[in-house]
Amino acid sequence: MVTAGVKAFLFVAALVVSVVATEEDCGSEEAASCASPQFLQLHRQVNDGTSNPQGVSHFWPHARGRMLQHPGTTPEAWTNHSLSWTWSYPEGKFHNLFAGGPVIDEDKHIYQMTARGLYAFNSSGHQLWHYQPPGRSNNEVTLYGDLVLGTTCDTGNAFAVNRSTGQSVWITNIAEDAGQDCGYPAAVDGVLVVGGERAHLDPADGNSQIFGLDANSGEKLWQYRPDMPTWNLLPLFPGDGTTLFMDFAGGIYKLDLHTGKELWKNLHHDSRGIGMTASGENRSFGDGGAALGPNGMVYTCSNPLAYRGDEGTTGIVRAFYQSNGTEVWSTSTNFPCNNYPAVGTTTGIDGLSLVVTPGSLMIPRQKEQGEILSLDAFTGSKKWSIKVKPLDVPLNMPEGDVAGLGTRLQDGIQPICWPSHWSAPMIDGNGMVLVGRSDGKLYRVFGPDAGYKGVRSPNMSVSEGLLWEATTLGSAFLHGALAAAPGLFVVSSCDTIYVFQK
Ligand SMILES: *[C@@H]1O[C@H](CO)[C@@H](O)[C@H](O)[C@H]1NC(C)=O
Ligand SMILES: *[C@@H]1O[C@H](CO)[C@@H](O)[C@H](O)[C@H]1NC(C)=O
Ligand SMILES: *[C@@H]1O[C@H](CO)[C@@H](O)[C@H](O)[C@H]1NC(C)=O
Ligand SMILES: *[C@@H]1O[C@H](CO)[C@@H](O)[C@H](O)[C@H]1NC(C)=O
Ligand SMILES: *[C@@H]1O[C@H](CO)[C@@H](O)[C@H](O)[C@H]1NC(C)=O
Ligand SMILES: *[C@@H]1O[C@H](CO)[C@@H](O)[C@H](O)[C@H]1NC(C)=O
Repeated sequence: MVTAGVKAFLFVAALVVSVVATEEDCGSEEAASCASPQFLQLHRQVNDGTSNPQGVSHFWPHARGRMLQHPGTTPEAWTNHSLSWTWSYPEGKFHNLFAGGPVIDEDKHIYQMTARGLYAFNSSGHQLWHYQPPGRSNNEVTLYGDLVLGTTCDTGNAFAVNRSTGQSVWITNIAEDAGQDCGYPAAVDGVLVVGGERAHLDPADGNSQIFGLDANSGEKLWQYRPDMPTWNLLPLFPGDGTTLFMDFAGGIYKLDLHTGKELWKNLHHDSRGIGMTASGENRSFGDGGAALGPNGMVYTCSNPLAYRGDEGTTGIVRAFYQSNGTEVWSTSTNFPCNNYPAVGTTTGIDGLSLVVTPGSLMIPRQKEQGEILSLDAFTGSKKWSIKVKPLDVPLNMPEGDVAGLGTRLQDGIQPICWPSHWSAPMIDGNGMVLVGRSDGKLYRVFGPDAGYKGVRSPNMSVSEGLLWEATTLGSAFLHGALAAAPGLFVVSSCDTIYVFQK
């Protein structure tokens, strides 16, 4: 609910945003984003959360891109990109399993963690090097200066690799072990934030502790134990020497980035029962996470009550002030919220949007439902939604998991990918929304049908006046599936890298 005080804050925030935006010089190559509302401009004014000591500026250093204040957005437009090359394990795609998705450095080199180690490619698909991490890794890597940083699950290690050579720079054992979830560690201001110490809880494990490491040396700086474990830990950085993250029940925390000191947390042990009971029963679970907005807010996508992301339950999206953790608004979603929001401006729709992709987790023998939903980032009211058909996949398992099971068991690698219903969404430079789904299709939302000027395909559909299309690629997608750089979109399924170029 929006109170009078909140409205005043929103007004001031909107004012600041529009003043900043009008001072921007709209260069011609940025014409597409200049035509859009002010918010697209703002991302160049704020600390992008990934500035680094060498002045290196990677295009997609982390699962949610480079602009952590506009997570999941790219200034690049998808228009006129077509499939240029793909890569999967040479002996067959089911002989490997990917972790998270790709990251792209300033040279447009692509890095992908897999069950068989970390691979680096140049933008035309030539393999540059392969690195075998110190343990099994199910986590997406992140770029920081000249380093590729990552973590392992079984051994609880963090590591750094030289991105030019693929050689190990440091390895630090942070804990005895780490959870089986797919994490998204990230670094800023010389600090790498990772999860470790496997939690042994039903129904999920995840990680009991958060660690801050010196990104350049691997030295452990601090550790912090949240009230509930994290799942797919994805730390956020507003650029003010702090880090924020969500636990798997939807609790949100803000720590000092350099000391790990808790600044605030909002667990919501309230009448709605979000979080957990004192005895530890009936906690909710979700494999979603948080996202920062450029408006001083942080958003969470989680599940209420004791819901665990299953078909037939609902999700909840909440907004908090980054400054003090006070909740600003919350809204219930028709399907569980098991994802990371993207924050930006979508085609033909005014104002800042929060794009979320609610959808139930894949449980065999159920018809899982999902939707692509856009909310007003200031109030949480619905802007639009695309109600897609329930998933239609073999045994209702993510595409590729049934087909690849036998091969992977034989190889002794993780047998199934079992991602969330959707990948995390991306908003491109024209405001188009892209998102991968567990049916192995890439969904694209082009905006209001009435205003669409691009080429039309017979495969496009219109719902609630919005034009969209789903294109079959292959297997299902993890949260980190999408990445972009100038002239380059990279989409990783659970087993294949698809590279689209201009
Ligand atoms: C896309 O390609 C078409 C045909 O080559 C061209 O006319 C159009 O200007 C291109 N659009 C963009 C945005 O580059
Ligand atoms: C990638 O590497 C191959 C082999 O060295 C080279 O032929 C190709 O030009 C490189 N591509 C780019 C875009 O640099
Ligand atoms: C990475 O390797 C390059 C080439 O050998 C070297 O110049 C650079 O100093 C190395 N960087 C780090 C951080 O090890
Ligand atoms: C947990 O949920 C079940 C079913 O909704 C309920 O019967 C039980 O009382 C709850 N336990 C606690 C500790 O709240
Ligand atoms: C929290 O911060 C917001 C904006 O920064 C402010 O308007 C609000 O009064 C604060 N709430 C509390 C309880 O301090
Ligand atoms: C439309 O979808 C069908 C079936 O997925 C596919 O074979 C065809 O290539 C698509 N057509 C276009 C124009 O994308």
